[in-house]
Amino acid sequence: MALPVITIDGPAGAGKSTVAKRVATSLGLTYLDTGAMYRAVTLLAQRTGVDVNDDLLLKRLAEDISLKLTGGRVYLNGEDVSEDIRKPEVSDKVSFVARQRSVREIMTKLQREMASNGGVVLDGRDMGSVVFPSADYKIFLTASVEERARRRHAELEQKGIIVSFDEVKHNIIARDKIDSEREVAPLRVPEGAYILDTTGLTIDEVVQEIVRKCRID
Ligand code: CDP
Repeated sequence: MALPVITIDGPAGAGKSTVAKRVATSLGLTYLDTGAMYRAVTLLAQRTGVDVNDDLLLKRLAEDISLKLTGGRVYLNGEDVSEDIRKPEVSDKVSFVARQRSVREIMTKLQREMASNGGVVLDGRDMGSVVFPSADYKIFLTASVEERARRRHAELEQKGIIVSFDEVKHNIIARDKIDSEREVAPLRVPEGAYILDTTGLTIDEVVQEIVRKCRID
């Protein structure tokens, strides 16, 4: 088999990026965080004063953008924005940017180019459903809202970003709603995906289960 494409989709804070990173390392593949791409476009919109609902202006921004995801870092027009894109002000607006058709078209094209040689684990919302419908393995990770909010709150705290548990929970619920209800590439369980509810499971258990699944099939 050519180098595989593995997609990991799911709602906000389900642990996709932590898990996807470790699955990639364990299978010797490259990890691509597609949420970081939408976050980077959002950050640039905020910095340049572009309205997150203005499809035409966002299209112009996204068309000219240089995005690089390497060594676990995210570079926007050459600048390392890995920390800035995780800030609450970006989390609050990213789903508005991500629902714009033109932005999705441009990001989808970039994602397909980045994965053109295979050998990648990609996490996002529409990886298995729209961007790579014929991926070799499709995973859908989920967990209860409480657990997702708890995990994300702890993660932010560890990075020194102070935000209340309720704010984190509210952001997760709001993003899930926009991401699921949008017209273009909404958050869905992709056809043929393996659904894994990670509530009560450790990261190790989740990683092991996915690696096992991708080795046996
Ligand atoms: O916070 P979390 O890590 O769960 O989210 P993320 O993966 O960083 O994605 C941030 C936002 O980008 C999502 O809430 C979606 O609005 C959007 N997104 C998307 O629309 N499609 C993707 N493939 C990935 C992310």
